[in-house]
Amino acid sequence: MEKNAAPKRSHRLVPKDNRNTVGENQVDNFKMRCEQVSVFYDNGATKAINSVSLDIGDNEVIAMIGPSGCGKSTFIRCLNRMNDTIEGCKVDGRIYLDGKNIYDKDVDVVPLRARVGMVFQKPNPFPKSIFDNVAYAPRIHGLVTNKSETEELVEKSLVRAGLWNEVKDRLNQPGTGLSGGQQQRLCIARTIAVNPEVILADRTPAGVRDPIASGHY
Ligand SMILES: Nc1ncnc2c1ncn2[C@@H]1O[C@H](COP(=O)(O)OP(=O)(O)O)[C@@H](O)[C@H]1O
Ligand SMILES: [Mg+2]
Repeated sequence: MEKNAAPKRSHRLVPKDNRNTVGENQVDNFKMRCEQVSVFYDNGATKAINSVSLDIGDNEVIAMIGPSGCGKSTFIRCLNRMNDTIEGCKVDGRIYLDGKNIYDKDVDVVPLRARVGMVFQKPNPFPKSIFDNVAYAPRIHGLVTNKSETEELVEKSLVRAGLWNEVKDRLNQPGTGLSGGQQQRLCIARTIAVNPEVILADRTPAGVRDPIASGHY
């Protein structure tokens, strides 16, 4: 077995249709596997999540429901190492993407976050034009090499996010000038522009569920 490959679990497999806890849910064809994930804030003084083990299947849509403060955002931030950006936050346990532990020392978070994209709860467009909000990540990741490729990808992403018709005549205006719901869709367009393998959406409004439904949650 490859050194970093996710180990096979020996214990009981919970059928997918019968999932009712976040304790020990497993699927055979997992895209991501979380094992005993615990998260601490304040340099270990506060435990926000206690030993969550959960598989996310390939092409599976998973929604997490729970009261405010129960750790939903904390958990999904583990999946693309966004908690790394929070001072005093520590993540324990193992999280595999395609069998590779994303917390291994040799994992570069920049390509990881392109593979596991995130739409934040609060829309946060860059202080740039609508066009550049969407073009930014494909440019840094080298997915586009010229103007026409960039234009094509920006249009395709905005169409997929259900925003194209509303913004096609004002692509050079600031993204921050859009309405809240439009900004949320702009952020979805920005996320899907790099073709992430997994999409994490933190309480994305129901009105924009369609582009999300086609990917991972
Ligand atoms: N940056 C942070 N620093 C310290 N504690 C935090 C931070 N973010 C979240 N928490 C705490 O972790 C717990 C889970 O929060 P959160 O993941 O935001 O819950 P949810 O998204 O389910 O509302 C809460 O008790 C919250 O106060
Ligand atoms: Mg939250």
